[in-house]
Amino acid sequence: MKNVGTLKGHGASDSPVDHKPASQPPKGRTITPWLVVVLAVILLSGALFGYDQGVISGALKSIKAAFSLSELLVEVVTSWVTLGALFGALAGGELADRLGRKHSVLIAGVVFTAGSLVEALTPGTIVLVIGRLIVGAGVGAAAVAAPLYAAELAPSALRGRFISAYQLAVAGGIFVAYLVDGWLAKDDAWRWMLGLSAVPGLMLIGFALLTPQSPRWLMRMQRRADAATEMRKIHPGTDSGPGLDTIASSLAKEHGRASWGEVFGKKWRRPLLVGVGLAVFQQITGINAIIYYADQIFQAAGFTTEAAQTTATTWAVGGVNVVATFIAIAFIDRLGRRKLLLAGLVGMALSLVVVGAAFEFITRATAGHPVATSTAGIVTLVALVIFIACFAFSMGPVVWTVINEIFPGHIRGRAVAVATAVNWASAFIVSQVFLSLINVIGDSFTFWLFASFCALGWIWVFYAVPETKGRSLEQIQQIWQSSGS
Ligand code: BGC
Repeated sequence: MKNVGTLKGHGASDSPVDHKPASQPPKGRTITPWLVVVLAVILLSGALFGYDQGVISGALKSIKAAFSLSELLVEVVTSWVTLGALFGALAGGELADRLGRKHSVLIAGVVFTAGSLVEALTPGTIVLVIGRLIVGAGVGAAAVAAPLYAAELAPSALRGRFISAYQLAVAGGIFVAYLVDGWLAKDDAWRWMLGLSAVPGLMLIGFALLTPQSPRWLMRMQRRADAATEMRKIHPGTDSGPGLDTIASSLAKEHGRASWGEVFGKKWRRPLLVGVGLAVFQQITGINAIIYYADQIFQAAGFTTEAAQTTATTWAVGGVNVVATFIAIAFIDRLGRRKLLLAGLVGMALSLVVVGAAFEFITRATAGHPVATSTAGIVTLVALVIFIACFAFSMGPVVWTVINEIFPGHIRGRAVAVATAVNWASAFIVSQVFLSLINVIGDSFTFWLFASFCALGWIWVFYAVPETKGRSLEQIQQIWQSSGS
């Protein structure tokens, strides 16, 4: 196969992942047809994650009516997908190491597709919840395997962008889900909304069957001949020998795969705390409460018709999330991680304070009864747009980038799986308690609580998260050693 083109990565030398040990395929920015297939796998894995995050928002109302669900069961149907993802992420780390990145993405695609069919055909609530758990397991496994796969197969100068493409696909998946929700809402076609996720699932299976195995993983499995075949496929016309030698020497330095004891040991405690802390703050600052319950928030803010709610959710949350992710892609390697995180958290905190204040006003003015769109409703809409934009250029992509760059190679698979699982556990807790929290402390205090977590997150990022922009992975490891973590 011939090369189909080249992509120029700006600030390529600054990219965190550009400096990964030279254990990766040949440098350069050449996109071969096989790399397009790899990119499709990464994008589809992100899109599954996003579609599933977004689709429930529009499907909830009809599901609630179809099965007469209590508030608690609405929360269970919404959030148990994250519980499945938590276990999927932990299993995904093991699968990716044992069966390889390609096969774990393939398994994730099969599990996800099966789960979405179970959801769509469910006769009742219990099977629906089981379907949500299965879908979640697929999403979680893909969420660990796909970025690892991206990191190992992308040309070094484009690696940062390959990983960022994953977050962009998550945001894109949420947006498409909102569009599908809007399209199907009037027919109460929630089975179709959920069942349609089988389409990207099947596409992922198709691409994952085609895609090459990671030469790096094959070398780890001592399958040099297979690694050479895959390397020649991905980078036709280049000599695979030197690339494989570099992988071999980098693997030798890693002293094999770390035990769980080492992952949690004193030596790597600081990066683990940074990774896990970022994973927690990404969720407890409220993003998924807003993604999942957007329609209900806009309803409470005075968007009384279903069409108005869906439009607000689709564009103000879904569209803005996609567009603002490009800001991160453009600036992450120029401004650095800390600046984006700190600026984003300020914007998120302020906008949540405004949302809380607007709800305070709405509650007083209407004694809790929904009213037609009012000034307070518009203020809520604008503030939520600012919140989403600030998340999308900071806590969304930057958190995943930092999590994927702070660990040394030999603990990376397991440590990333731990951080990802903690992220899902936090998402689970937030989505599980959000509606109940609103009932107990009210809308305003719930948003102010998220705002206070943004403030705490800001302080924590300021003191705990080092700048990793422009440093090689070896230099990042030295940060931990010099601080005697
Ligand atoms: C988060 C998800 C969130 C998504 C929104 C991701 O980085 O991990 O929980 O739903 O961003 O775009």
